[in-house]
Amino acid sequence: MAKLDQKKTPFFDKIKAYGKSGTTPLDVPGHKLGSIHNEFREYLGTNAFLLDANAPRGLDNLSKPKGVIKEAQALAADAFGADHAYFLLNGTSQGIMAMIMASVRAKEKIIIPRNVHKSAINGLILSGAMPIFMKPYIDTELGIANGIDIDELKETIEEHPDAKAIFVINPTYFGVASNLKEIVKIAHEHNMLVLCDEAHGSHFIFNDKLPMSAMEAGADMAAGSIHKTIGSLTQSSILLTKGNLVEPSRVQSTLNVLQTTSPSSLFMASLDTARSFMATKGSKLLDNLIQMADEARKEINQIDGFKAITKSDIINQKGFDYDETKIMVKVSDIGITGFEAYNLLSMESNIQMELAETHLVLAVLSIGTTKKDLDNFVSGLKKLKDYQKDIKIKHKIRFTYPDSYTRPREAYHAPKKYVRLEDALNEVAAENIMVYPPGIPLVIPGEIINQEILDDLEFYMEQGSTILSDTEDGYIKVVDKDLWYKYEGDL
Ligand SMILES: Cc1ncc(COP(=O)(O)O)c(C=O)c1O
Repeated sequence: MAKLDQKKTPFFDKIKAYGKSGTTPLDVPGHKLGSIHNEFREYLGTNAFLLDANAPRGLDNLSKPKGVIKEAQALAADAFGADHAYFLLNGTSQGIMAMIMASVRAKEKIIIPRNVHKSAINGLILSGAMPIFMKPYIDTELGIANGIDIDELKETIEEHPDAKAIFVINPTYFGVASNLKEIVKIAHEHNMLVLCDEAHGSHFIFNDKLPMSAMEAGADMAAGSIHKTIGSLTQSSILLTKGNLVEPSRVQSTLNVLQTTSPSSLFMASLDTARSFMATKGSKLLDNLIQMADEARKEINQIDGFKAITKSDIINQKGFDYDETKIMVKVSDIGITGFEAYNLLSMESNIQMELAETHLVLAVLSIGTTKKDLDNFVSGLKKLKDYQKDIKIKHKIRFTYPDSYTRPREAYHAPKKYVRLEDALNEVAAENIMVYPPGIPLVIPGEIINQEILDDLEFYMEQGSTILSDTEDGYIKVVDKDLWYKYEGDL
């Protein structure tokens, strides 16, 4: 329960007052509080620009907060049940990289599920940590990877008692939560930190029908996308810490390595107000949302051939808990893939889904979702029945477990060459390759490319998915093993 007055929005109040103060702006940014009347300024109007001031006197400094940013962050820490909160202007990706960099040094071990977002892999590159991957359990009916299996975690810890930290996704992109409280207990018994990717779980603490939040479970650090589930502007997130295993000054200095020196006041004001709104009104609004989502799921389940996944479905598939503000719909039983459904919902009904997988589409709801949105979704799904086909969609389980050749950081710095995908078998990847969304790499730097990865890539390309890599389509950047021996760096 929050102890401070969550109605307060100190940063927003101060920047608003500054924008209206009539100050002569002889500083950056160059739009001079909206004085350049280009098309964008005309479209947005004045207010957005009046809030977009750099770090004028009295407005504090994100890299060493002592004033209103400090106050706003303290209110956020209080709302999210943390000891400290840090505003992130480069998304949860920045928080994830910072958590890993601040707690695991080069060559130290971190236990981590393989279905992590690419930012966790980038955190491994930056810190030099050695990943000890755990296999998440797979929902074979939906073809998605879910949470952490406690027995697998215990075995991994037994094999690697020297690991420094355990990384947990709370929840997965699809809304599945692991038994975080138990994970924290086990980790702390072994002197390991728990770092949580809470990109999709910042709203958890505001309603007890939702899975347990990282801070409630006693995790040491958690990074959450306030922009994804609470309503701040895209790319604004928060890093939370709790307990005495994490040193605040190390966290701040790591964030300062990764953060711009020109943080957007607009984004920080949106964090301040989104937190206040959620902390004061969120619980009721989430109750309402959960009920609307539940009704929508029931309606969807009455449409022959579709299955809206419920919490009990997830628990039957070894999931521990489920975020019922997500609606995952299995569409493949009517003979179309999730990818086809995703496109058809957009083209026929003007509905933008969050993502598609072979068997399903995923809707991410928030307290901004209306009953009308959900009614449109249900009618959009009904229209898909016109595209029903008498074919069986083949199962496709997305995760392969490639063998590791070297640490991600070493592969990242190794001498490299480019090869065509068809020649890449048994080469060592030097880059992340992923389908976006969800941005979970099929292969990461340092892993040996196997046939399953190449098949997966071909499959996703055929489905028209967006494949993200650093290399031109059709090629992949790999470690040049002939030059490898000359490489004497000790990273
Ligand atoms: C599971 C997961 N973790 C981390 C991130 C990164 O979050 P952000 O986009 O706020 O940087 C995402 C983004 O999609 C995600 O899905």
